[in-house]
Amino acid sequence: MRLEHPANGGPGSDAEPPPPDSRRSFIRAGSVTVMTAAALGAAGAAATPAAPRSPVEEARRAGRPAPLTPACDGHETPAAVEGPLFKPHSPERTDLRTPGTRGVRLELTGTVYDTACRAIPGALIEFWQCDQNGDYDTTGFSLRGHQFSTGRGAFTLRTIVPRDYAGRWGTRAPHIHTRIQAPGGPALITQLYFPDNTLAYGRDFAVLNASDQLINRACTIALTGPAGGAYRGAFDFVVKTAAARGQQR
Ligand SMILES: [Fe+2]
Repeated sequence: MRLEHPANGGPGSDAEPPPPDSRRSFIRAGSVTVMTAAALGAAGAAATPAAPRSPVEEARRAGRPAPLTPACDGHETPAAVEGPLFKPHSPERTDLRTPGTRGVRLELTGTVYDTACRAIPGALIEFWQCDQNGDYDTTGFSLRGHQFSTGRGAFTLRTIVPRDYAGRWGTRAPHIHTRIQAPGGPALITQLYFPDNTLAYGRDFAVLNASDQLINRACTIALTGPAGGAYRGAFDFVVKTAAARGQQR
C-alpha cells in the first residue's frame, strides 16, 4: 500500500533540525509547570515549585514500580524530531521482527485518542527503530512497519527493545520512532523511551536516559516484565484530528 508522508522523505530530512525543543514541546512543558505550581499552591506548599517530573521519574525516585500509562488527559503526545533514518512505504504489519532479528522481545499495546479522549479508529501508526546492535536497516524494512488502529483505536506492536547508539545528537538512549496520523489529520512524529530500570543488552538505561539530549520522559513506555525473556509495554497516543486542526486556522 502506498502511503502519503507529506512531512517526510524530502530533501530536508537529513538537515540538522533545531534543538530538541519545538514550540509545541515548549508549550507543553510550560503547561506542566503551571499545573505543578497550581498543585503546590493548593496544598499550601513553599513558593518554589519543583521541576516537573514524569510519573515514571516520580515512581523511580520513590522506589515504586513504574506506573501504568496514564489515562488520556487530552494533551497531545509531545512531538520529537524525526531523525534522518525514516523510510516511507514500509510494509503494513504488526510484527516488525524479521528472521535476523535478535534481542529482547517487546509487545507494545495502546490506544490512539483524539484531544477529547475519544478513540480514533483507522489511525495510521508507523514505527521504526534500530536493532539489538544499535543499527537501523537502511536497505530493507527490518524493524520498520505501519499499521492502522482498530475500530476501538487500539494497536499492538511486536518488536524488540532497541539498543542505544551514537548518532548526530550523541549517544541516544533506546527509543522507538513513531509517526501517528488520524484519518485526514496532521501527522505527529515522536519517540518512545524505556524506563530507567529496563534490563537489556547489559546496558544501564538510567545512565543512557539521563545523558540523552532528546529524551522526553512523558514519552516513556510503561513496562512490565521481563517475563520469559520478553517485556510488555503500554503507551497511549493523543493526536489532533482534522477537525482540531481546522479549528486552529
Ligand atoms: Fe533513532
